[in-house]
Amino acid sequence: MNGITEAQILQLPKILDPRGNLSIIEDDLHIPFKIQRVYWIYDVPGGQVRGGHAFREQQELIVALSGSFDIMVDDGQSRRTFSLNRSYYGLFVPAGYWRQMQNFSTNSLALVLSSTRYDEKDYIRDYEDFLTYCKKDEK
Ligand code: TYD
Repeated sequence: MNGITEAQILQLPKILDPRGNLSIIEDDLHIPFKIQRVYWIYDVPGGQVRGGHAFREQQELIVALSGSFDIMVDDGQSRRTFSLNRSYYGLFVPAGYWRQMQNFSTNSLALVLSSTRYDEKDYIRDYEDFLTYCKKDEK
C-alpha cells in the first residue's frame, strides 16, 4: 500500500464478534509505511490542544482508541478538520502537514503510529516557518 499523498481517513479491518470486536493494523498492508514508533496521548484536560506543528519526514496514523477528538490538518494552502470517534478508523497524515489535535472528550485515548523514530529536528514548530517550508517545496 503506497501512493497516498493527502491526509485521509483510512478504515481499518473490523472483526465483529459477540465476545467483543477486534481491529488490526499491519504496516505496509493497512497503512502506507513501516511503523518505527508508537505513542499515545491520554488524560488530556478539557479544552487542551496537542500537536500544533508539522513534520518534515514523519508520516503517521492517528487512531481514537477510546473517546473522540478532532484533528485539524493544513497543507499550507487549505485546512480540513477530521473527527475521530471510532477505533476502526485512523487518520493518515503524510509528511509536510501542519496538524493540531483538539476537542478531546473525557477519557479519550489517541494512538499515534509513526514512520520515524523520535527526532526533534524533524519538527517544524513555528507556523511561519511551515509556510516558508511549503513554498520551498513548490519549486
Ligand atoms: P510533542 O510531539 O510536541 O507533543 P504533541 O505534538 O502531542 O503536542 O511532544 C511533547 C514532548 O514529548 C516533547 O518534549 C518531546 C517529547 N517526545 C519524546 O521525547 N518522544 C516522542 O516520541 C514524542 C512524540 C514526544
